[in-house]
Amino acid sequence: MSKGAKDYSKYFDFSNAKVLSEDENGKRIRINGREINIISEPNQRQEKMRGKQDIQVHYEQAVPNEIMGLGSGKRYIIYTYGCQMNEHDTETMSGLLEQMGYEKTDDRKQADLILLNTCAIRENAEDKVFGELGHLKTLKLERPGLVLGVCGCMSQEEGVVNRIMQKHQFVDIIFGTHNIHRLPYLVRDALFNKEMVVEVWSKEGDIIENLPKKREGMRGWVNIMYGCDKFCTYCIVPYTRGKERSRRPEDVIAEVRELARQGFKEITLLGQNVNAYGKDFTDMNYLFGDLMADIHKIDIPRIRFMTSHPRDFDDHLIEVLAKRGNLVEHIHLPVQSGSSEVLKKMSRKYNRDQFLELVRKIKTAIPDVVMTTDIIVGFPGETDEQFEDTMSLVREVEFDSAYTFLYSPREGTPAAGMEDNVPLEVKKARLQRLNDLMKQLSRIGNERLIGQTVEVLVEGESKNNTAILSGRTRTNKLVHFEGSKDLIGQFVQVKVYDAMTFYIKGELVTEPMQMSS
Ligand code: SAH
Ligand code: SF4
Ligand code: F3S
Repeated sequence: MSKGAKDYSKYFDFSNAKVLSEDENGKRIRINGREINIISEPNQRQEKMRGKQDIQVHYEQAVPNEIMGLGSGKRYIIYTYGCQMNEHDTETMSGLLEQMGYEKTDDRKQADLILLNTCAIRENAEDKVFGELGHLKTLKLERPGLVLGVCGCMSQEEGVVNRIMQKHQFVDIIFGTHNIHRLPYLVRDALFNKEMVVEVWSKEGDIIENLPKKREGMRGWVNIMYGCDKFCTYCIVPYTRGKERSRRPEDVIAEVRELARQGFKEITLLGQNVNAYGKDFTDMNYLFGDLMADIHKIDIPRIRFMTSHPRDFDDHLIEVLAKRGNLVEHIHLPVQSGSSEVLKKMSRKYNRDQFLELVRKIKTAIPDVVMTTDIIVGFPGETDEQFEDTMSLVREVEFDSAYTFLYSPREGTPAAGMEDNVPLEVKKARLQRLNDLMKQLSRIGNERLIGQTVEVLVEGESKNNTAILSGRTRTNKLVHFEGSKDLIGQFVQVKVYDAMTFYIKGELVTEPMQMSS
């Protein structure tokens, strides 16, 4: 058991479990009267392994004919936690369920199927899911026909799956991030059998193309790669998402073209490290910069990407991004810490100076770039001085905004076993100081726009006042302005007259315009 990480070992007691049968298709067990069909379970040691075999790409029909219609007249809800990767997986699962005939509902009392698409990145993310499972138990007792599933990154953790099998026996399906295409089959099994079904693959699967996706609105996500091979010492993602594997460029480009044809206004290319794209191709030399250069030619107004890693940010990529057009001048570049010693312990594979040099190159090529970042405060053993290095780096780069996190130990990761002598109150005080600094910088960044006219993609009415519209600039800043609802979904020019910490205010200066610069 690693130090500091939540101790799930008390749930590992399977002395009360009876194995009913076991063969190459998995095993059936009974725990406290509940039968569980374990087709495959997660195993963190296997998740860490990186095999050499090629990833196959499949283009088959996603929902077989015999399963279509199984959901007709039924309703589903998916609760999504975590990052855009999960949000996008939810779009895929919604697409699969709707092909089965299910309809979406927002009222959980009406739902016949509820899925929790979970996140394992920090302990509080996991606590929320266990809290929600508590509420769903009551619902399940009222409506035994309800099918409950747990999927996403937490399902890839052995301790979590064992805990659900022992303590949350009302759950019907557990599946992981590598086999969401199996959802129709698992739902069918849950509908026809009474047992809990567990199917979590420890090794990443192949790439499955042609999965239906239910996208909403004018902004679409497109996965360009899956997994992560970086193994930063604090992070669970390489275990929950498997090895880095890139989609073929022709499949990505075809998907972006199709979304452009459907009228989407903005595409975000997704991956844990988008700029590691292509490094796994053995048959061609085609990297993220090449992909961006090709997507640059597609007629879609805005292209974003999430998330890039400083280590793989090469000069060719900077050169391509400097062409602008639909490639927006916003780069989210997680730094994590400003201290070279801490970065080394995190295994980020760059130091403070290298990061600053990269920022300098980016700012030279794209002078009005807006840079945002992620920072972890309170990494094991972080000294006051090392934290001050983070503060000074933030000031030097002048990030426009940052996601800041208190370090959370994750079971099985190297950092969870590192000596940590920093009291929680000290960590919290540091986080507060960093957040105060970030607020100042965000406001300064926003104030710089006062008097300027910015291009805004109008997204909807503001939450508190329907007379006010809200939208985003190319640099992803939130803008509020007065205007009529007909503008939603269009690009307009807005002149900025006031700046807050988290948004700017402006007034409409033109009617809808055709396109971005
Ligand atoms: N792939 C992305 C980040 C994915 S996770 C990247 O490398 O940039 C999003 C953020 O969560 C990370 O950037 C990091 O700041 C934070 N994070 C990851 N593991 C964490 C942990 N154990 N405790 C606190 N924050 C963590
Ligand atoms: Fe986690 Fe590091 Fe991979 Fe990002 S690059 S997902 S922080 S291991
Ligand atoms: Fe969370 Fe998994 Fe994303 S752990 S942050 S949902 S990749």
